[in-house]
Formats: sequence, C-alpha cells, structure tokens
Amino acid sequence: MSEKIRVLLSEEEVDRRIQEIGEQINRDYEGKSVHLICVLKGGVFFMCELAKRIKVPVSLDFMSVSSYGDETSSSGVVRIVKDLDQPLEGKDVIIVEDIIDSGRTLYYLMDILKKRNPKSMRLCTLLDKPERRVKDVKVDYTCFNIPDEFVVGYGLDYAQKYRNLPFIGVVEFDDADK
Ligand code: IMP
Ligand code: MG
Repeated sequence: MSEKIRVLLSEEEVDRRIQEIGEQINRDYEGKSVHLICVLKGGVFFMCELAKRIKVPVSLDFMSVSSYGDETSSSGVVRIVKDLDQPLEGKDVIIVEDIIDSGRTLYYLMDILKKRNPKSMRLCTLLDKPERRVKDVKVDYTCFNIPDEFVVGYGLDYAQKYRNLPFIGVVEFDDADK
C-alpha cells in the first residue's frame, strides 16, 4: 500500500512553537530544576528539541509503555515495557508526550507515576486531538491542537515509518489502494 504525506505543520512552525513552550517552562520553573520524562518512542524528538530550549537545570529519563487493546484503540490498561531509571521522589516532573488522543494512556500512566511522590507533575504534549478525548487528562503545555486526522513525523509513526520527518504530516492513502 502506498501513501502520501501532506504537510500539516511545517518544520519552522513546529520549531517556533517549541521555542515558545520552552520559554514558558523557563518562566514557570525559575529557580527550580525540571525532570523530563519521555514516553518512548514518539516523544523522543520533541523531548530533545524542548530540552535544548530549557535554561533551568534539566535531567532526563525515559519510559516505554504498551497499551493493551487492538491496533486502533487503546484500552487504557498500560503495561510498562521499560521503566524509569531514576526515582521521582521530590522532583518537579514534566511528562513529555508526542500526542494525546483518547487520553487513556496518560490517564493511567500519570496515576502510576503520582504514586512515586514527585514534588510536582505536569504534562507537556506536542499535539492534542481534543475531539477524541475519552479520559479527562489535564494538559499543562500543548504545542498544537489538531483535528482528528492521523498524523506522522516528529516522532510519530505509521507502522513504524516516518518518525524522522522534521515536520508534522497527515497520512493520505492513494485511492487505488482503497
Ligand atoms: P491515547 O491518548 O491513549 O489514545 O493514545 C495516544 C497514543 O496513540 C500516542 O502516544 C500515539 O502513540 C498514538 N497515536 C494517537 N494518534 C496518533 C496519530 O495521529 N499518529 C500516530 N500515533 C498516534
Ligand atoms: Mg506516545
């Protein structure tokens, strides 16, 4: 099956917005340190770009989760595939995600991580599809709200492809393939 990618948000637009969010975080965390948690793999490109723009001391950790459910909808029950290396106790934590869709994954994940007693925990996402929300998660920093379309690039994949695109694009399938 072949597909085309239509640019939704250009590299320049994404970079400019990440800069703005970085500046907002610098103001909000003045005099503190931030501990960024990247949810692999989708969050990794965004976290690197964001971290470069944060001026307060930054530490990084990574985790990988898989959600029980079928390919298209997450059940919300999350299995930790790779856990964090460091404890969260007493830290000002920001979870960095690629996209919030139904909200199920983050709802469940934040519940697990809050039990590890961070001093504070906020959520930062590159993209949000608010129309799709099933679970009410509070997002503290959102780069872009987008319509309900399947997007790739900047860490987001379609069947593990396109994560490396430096922009956000919508996947369009050729009519002949339908
Ligand atoms: P949810 O919020 O639990 O429904 O799941 C969010 C996860 O679904 C994200 O972390 C992505 O891995 C995946 N996802 C949702 N929408 C898209 C999309 O448009 N493109 C690529 N992955 C997506
Ligand atoms: Mg993700």
